Amino acid sequence: MKALILSGGKGTRLRPLTYTGAKQLVPVANKPILWYGIEAIVAAGITDIGIIISPETGEEIKAKTGNGDRFGAKITYILQDKPAGLAHAVKVAQPFLEDAPFLMYLGDNLVESDLRLFIEQFKERSLDALTLLCAVPNPSAFGVAKIDEDGRVLQLLEKPKIPPSNLALVGIYLFSNHVHHAIANIQPSPRGELEITDAIQFLIDQPKKVEARQLEGWWLDTGKKDDLLEANRIILDTRLAAAVEGEVDSKSQVIGRVQIGPGSRIVNCTIRGPVTIGNDCYLENCFIGPYSSVANQVTLIDADLEHSVILQGAKIIGIQQRIVDSVVGQRAELKVAPQRPKALRFLIGDDSQIELA
Ligand code: G1P
Repeated sequence: MKALILSGGKGTRLRPLTYTGAKQLVPVANKPILWYGIEAIVAAGITDIGIIISPETGEEIKAKTGNGDRFGAKITYILQDKPAGLAHAVKVAQPFLEDAPFLMYLGDNLVESDLRLFIEQFKERSLDALTLLCAVPNPSAFGVAKIDEDGRVLQLLEKPKIPPSNLALVGIYLFSNHVHHAIANIQPSPRGELEITDAIQFLIDQPKKVEARQLEGWWLDTGKKDDLLEANRIILDTRLAAAVEGEVDSKSQVIGRVQIGPGSRIVNCTIRGPVTIGNDCYLENCFIGPYSSVANQVTLIDADLEHSVILQGAKIIGIQQRIVDSVVGQRAELKVAPQRPKALRFLIGDDSQIELA
């Protein structure tokens, strides 16, 4: 079995972070979102992985992720020259997939479940498609499934205004080679894309064997800021192991599960886990509260932070109020003068948000 990870797209819902980089490379607990997917696929025993990339962000994804050696996998990059839909991506990947059954994984999805169980069921029951579903409060934002009591899928609808159930399609699918025939027979949707939901509906109508399983545990589609913070919280909560490699002075207190990378210096700070701090950071007179991720080469002086994600090279200096629920982009600087500031001076990128709450 092979795997196909979709890592194209423009990431419009994560602007401004995605003006300068791929949404799949935005870190969760200091690791690119995409890498969690690769690791989950390898853990499920699939090592022949194709990654769909776009002309805009493909080179960055390739440079950062490499040929797969670090994951114990073989990665083949496949260029999709335009964002023409998930089914279009499968079409473009057909020379890589050949006739093999495959797991398709949307690169900005994170799930708690082990994928092995679903792969076994797909094989045992000789299915043509297995979709994963998750009950959500806002099904209209996703593909939605109508299923019978045996888990057979009756109908799939992409982002329906009136959803037939609260079961959203998770961005992880298993397919036999029949999906290629289905894709060859569908037309672009009203939004101009070849939809994977339409291809699965074609398989249902044939009829081919299409089933669904409901996910246990959490599912996160990290498309927006709040989803990203939630993913960060859950990963820190469930997967972070304490490891202090950097230098912590005697005036600092490190409480709970905290990771501090090599080359980082912590001076007179309180750090209350779960918190991850990357390499070569400098922190002085700070309180770093739970569910914070600080990437490499970040400087924090006289700052108070909680439930936030600070990206590489950012600087926060002299902010007395607690920074909460925030994402600070790469190399961004937030500074307040030591005396009471008389003015606010900004250079803010497009689509940035500043809230003095
Ligand atoms: C895509 C699929 C949708 C699915 C979702 C999961 O939507 O089209 O059916 O529920 O991924 O992440 P998109 O995120 O491309 O809008």
